Amino acid sequence: MISDDIEEILFTPERLKTRVQEIASEINEEYEGKSLLLVGILKGCMYFMADLIRALKVPLAIDFMSISNYGFSTQKTGVVRILKDLEKPIENQHILIVEDVVDTGLTLGYLLKILKERSPASLRVCALLDKPVYRIMRVPVDYRGFELDRRFVVGYGLDYQERYRHFPFICVLKKEICPL
Ligand code: PRP
Repeated sequence: MISDDIEEILFTPERLKTRVQEIASEINEEYEGKSLLLVGILKGCMYFMADLIRALKVPLAIDFMSISNYGFSTQKTGVVRILKDLEKPIENQHILIVEDVVDTGLTLGYLLKILKERSPASLRVCALLDKPVYRIMRVPVDYRGFELDRRFVVGYGLDYQERYRHFPFICVLKKEICPL
């Protein structure tokens, strides 16, 4: 059974739901009277983005970007390649980047740089998980779900070698399964 791989559940579906609602309330308040374009960064953002947008009350549209880091996931270089870009220009729009996790900040740093060059009205970041202990590049995280230490987590969109994304909770895997 896949559940045998779990060491500890850190965030239950209920806790995730509550936190996502809280973040959505903040966004609803701060963007009142405006409309938003949420830009999800694939693939980890999928559950977070789906739950977040259903809790938002401001007018919104969604789009996605898919990027690839050169180097192994544990040795990020900050050199990023766009695999899928946004469908339309974002000039004069309020943009909210939706990420599952910010580690080194290199991916986000790159994304912020290229999206800023497209002249949006505003550009902010919403990340479910923030691991400041790994930060290499200073990046703004305007809305944050949870701060985490060095633990490598999976579930609710997050993977280990492309597996475990479908868990409805966020958990740590057993060391023999995931030595990270
Ligand atoms: C994760 C996450 C960010 C990036 C953050 O993506 O979604 O895009 O890593 O890391 P950084 O702050 O060190 O740059 P990942 O490469 O795991 O792809 P995935 O979302 O498809 O799982």
